[in-house]
Amino acid sequence: MSATVVVGLQWGDEGKGKIIDSLCEGFDAVARFNGGSNAGHTVVVGGNKFAFHLLPSGVLQGKKLLIGNGVVVDPEILLKELDEVASLNLTPDLLVSDRAHLTLGPHKFRDRLEEGRRGAAAVGTTMRGISPTFADRALRAGVRAGDLLDDESLKSAFETFASLNRALISGVYGEDGDAIVKDSMDRVKELAPRLRQYVGDVSKAANDLLDRKGKLLLEGAQGYYLDIDYGTYPYVTATHTTASYAPAGIGIPSQRIEEVIGVIKAYCTRVGSGPFITEMGGQAEEALRRKGNEYGATTGRPRRIGWLDAAATRYAAKASGVTSLALTKVDVLGGLDRVSVCDGYIDGSSLRMEPPSTISALRRCKPHYLEFEGWPDLSPEAWRKLGEGGISALPKNALEFARSVEELVGVRVRYVSYGPDRIDLKELK
Ligand code: GDP
Ligand code: IMO
Ligand code: MG
Repeated sequence: MSATVVVGLQWGDEGKGKIIDSLCEGFDAVARFNGGSNAGHTVVVGGNKFAFHLLPSGVLQGKKLLIGNGVVVDPEILLKELDEVASLNLTPDLLVSDRAHLTLGPHKFRDRLEEGRRGAAAVGTTMRGISPTFADRALRAGVRAGDLLDDESLKSAFETFASLNRALISGVYGEDGDAIVKDSMDRVKELAPRLRQYVGDVSKAANDLLDRKGKLLLEGAQGYYLDIDYGTYPYVTATHTTASYAPAGIGIPSQRIEEVIGVIKAYCTRVGSGPFITEMGGQAEEALRRKGNEYGATTGRPRRIGWLDAAATRYAAKASGVTSLALTKVDVLGGLDRVSVCDGYIDGSSLRMEPPSTISALRRCKPHYLEFEGWPDLSPEAWRKLGEGGISALPKNALEFARSVEELVGVRVRYVSYGPDRIDLKELK
């Protein structure tokens, strides 16, 4: 046992990076198991802000870092992040799975081309080449990190990759596939000597650590409703984002998972297109966007904002086996007279308690809201000062809100976060 999973239960950007950094002290290793550099996980320490796309968020706490087979790895971004942490005098103890697929130039190019081709129906991806990398994996035409360790293997993987990517880029999109494929091969050869030292068997490393009674923290990217199956398909990412994917994406048995912490914001956000039942719109949304600094950590795009959807959270928490919740950004809602929470969906004359699976049904649904009394608007310093007095010193209505959320979701709220910094977090007993 002794692996803990942290996952987002909304549309990503719930504050997973902050929670991982705050909680990882008691762990030996932190592992990413899904997604790729589409993730942007923010960690704030002593007022300094860092955003990690591939390196697990335990990096600043000096933890052993694992990137599992479930992650697609853009070598350019990984090396850039390693350079950034090196400038902080950190030399991470990092292992990247030899089975992880590499995101290469043609993937990023195809992401842009495909979004352009779809026009108004575009998904609004991060343009990080994520879905083309996962598509090539499924087409058995990917290049994996382990191929970098063996020239024969790299040559053969690249041949299949090159032939598919040339055909797609030239044949489907009418662009110069030859040039971009050749550039990417040259670039991989250039970066390989630096990358090789980090590549190895992550499944074995994770299992060895657990056998030695070590503690492993598994860091999810994205959120439940961006999952390829359980999200608002087709406005989703290209792989699984659920807690149940964690063991598969790192190579450990599912029985090793002891705890699952679901991270939720006190409201919801989503970046990119797709239905969003509790979306606020108007000035209320704009005000919260500014107050909560709701701009994408990867793309800088403004995030769409809605009220907390407790019905969606309940469904996600149940299916994910969530054992406790971390509720973030309660400070951002401070100053509102009333705070709304959706507890079900009005679909014609019936009330649905679970989110429907199709976007046409979702678009038909209207939120059914419960209302709660608001709490004061306090400065970040005032929140911190209150927090220093212990959890019960936080505004009464904010704590009651947390209690109502746990009742509606059916899972205990264990952590309440009231500021971006590592220390702005308290455990709710
Ligand atoms: P992630 O992708 O789930 O790691 O979340 P992001 O880092 O993309 O977005 C969360 C944003 O909220 C970041 O800017 C965090 O620094 C910030 N944040 C996290 N927790 C809190 C909190 O409790 N209060 C406030 N005000 N900001 C927070
Ligand atoms: P973290 O880990 C928020 C969204 C994109 C788009 C959709 C598909 O920081 O929570 P993709 O590039 O994956 O093909 O885009 O998924 N998306 C995210 N939204 N947070 C993320 O990660 C996201 N990763 C992908 O905006 O709507
Ligand atoms: Mg993010």
